[in-house]
Amino acid sequence: MIGELDADAVAGYFRGKSILIIGSTGFLGKVLVEKILRVQPDVKKLFLLIRAAGVESAKHRVETEVTGREIFQVLKEKHGDRFDDFIQEKVCPLAGDIVYKNLGLDHAKLTELSKGINIIVNGAATTNFYERYDVAFDTNVMGAKHICEFAKRCNKLKMLLHVSTAYVAGEQEGILPEKPFLLGETLREGVHLDIESELNLIQETRREVEANCYSERVEKRTMKELGLKRTIDSFIIGYAKQALSIFLVDLDLIMDVVPGDMVVNAMMVAMAVHSEDQGQSIYHVTSSLRNPAPYAVLADSGGRYFLHNPPCSKKNGEPVRLSRMRFFRTLPRFRAYMAVKFRLPLEILRLLNIALFGAFSRRYGELSRKYRYVMHVAELYAPYALFKGCFDDTNTERLRAALKANKEQNKSRGYDFGFDPKSVDWDNYFYSVHIPGVVKYLCD
Ligand SMILES: NC(=O)c1ccc[n+]([C@@H]2O[C@H](COP(=O)([O-])OP(=O)(O)OC[C@H]3O[C@@H](n4cnc5c(N)ncnc54)[C@H](OP(=O)(O)O)[C@@H]3O)[C@@H](O)[C@H]2O)c1
Repeated sequence: MIGELDADAVAGYFRGKSILIIGSTGFLGKVLVEKILRVQPDVKKLFLLIRAAGVESAKHRVETEVTGREIFQVLKEKHGDRFDDFIQEKVCPLAGDIVYKNLGLDHAKLTELSKGINIIVNGAATTNFYERYDVAFDTNVMGAKHICEFAKRCNKLKMLLHVSTAYVAGEQEGILPEKPFLLGETLREGVHLDIESELNLIQETRREVEANCYSERVEKRTMKELGLKRTIDSFIIGYAKQALSIFLVDLDLIMDVVPGDMVVNAMMVAMAVHSEDQGQSIYHVTSSLRNPAPYAVLADSGGRYFLHNPPCSKKNGEPVRLSRMRFFRTLPRFRAYMAVKFRLPLEILRLLNIALFGAFSRRYGELSRKYRYVMHVAELYAPYALFKGCFDDTNTERLRAALKANKEQNKSRGYDFGFDPKSVDWDNYFYSVHIPGVVKYLCD
């Protein structure tokens, strides 16, 4: 049973708290840091664990990648000349790395933190589309373990909030409940995940690569091939750069998207609601059940957006002529199209190149690289682009119901904690918010 609370109670919960945030340079992390500082200036301290060589470089990263970003503009205006002092008083950068035991912190810092921290938020993960398996494992598995071990040492800890990902659902279909995974549970029946075996596999692969005297490049590629990847933003970036115009996606399928500020609101409400609980709660901050957004909406709004705002050529600054988007709803259809349209002409070009003693080597190399890139991206994305699951959000709906929303009060406060996906008009959101944001911040 969740008790009711309003926005003042949510903001009030963070008053006087010492919070360790891991992943603050990331997309969600910086939104969280900004929101806490904005709604609760009386938070005691935000400790930001940053991958850096030392405190000075951690501080520099925070200034350039977190508090120096555009989303802090409202806070800057609010504090004026005192903004830097405010940040210095409230934000403490720490150099660390979750792949190491004790998060890479020295004994003194570890002891100091473990005596004072009230809340830990972990939003750190490798979310790279194409990450090495060993790096992903060290961060997403061992990193989470190291954070839990650290949390156990914190005697004033009230809350550990871990942000996970929809991709833990793999290729499951139907309604996916908000339930925890048991240790070792996997998505394949009869298959148990043993962390030790995974670690052994990584170490063995590393040894094999070393024994065969492969170059660092080969080691990187081998490790990447062991890994697995991921967001819809990659499609948008690919099209904006005109590197992709052919997409493997079933436009009738539902993608699960939620605006980042709503995710952060849900995180803050969940922390306020569960602070005194001993148990574990799982929340799916998703939209597929309450307000499904089919890929067709993104394709339509994306098409319109780029028609009205064509990307400009890097060479001459002129708007580029956009290729027509083509969509394929199955991998075999996609492969067949690619074979006829590109692979066959490429093969002819290869033979011609041989016959003409390498006259087309450069062109052939360029085109075959492009071809391999598109095929690679399609194969990697297939499980996600063709995902047929739907995330249940009954727990999240209860959390939403617990939040008493008072529009008038929210207006006078200048903030709210709403996270109802039903309030989002997807077409407008993609056209006016999401796609322009991706183009502005991610397309350089
Ligand atoms: N954004 C989304 O659409 C979305 C959707 C669903 C779920 N999620 C989940 O939400 C979480 C955060 O996502 P995000 O989009 O904010 O990710 P992101 O932008 O990729 O940021 C990841 C953060 O983790 C940090 N990090 C990575 N490895 C680390 C390490 N070894 N030690 C310490 N920090 C490390 C990164 O620091 P550096 O700056 O040093 O790399 C960065 O601050 C992830 O678990 C993601 O799967 C995100």
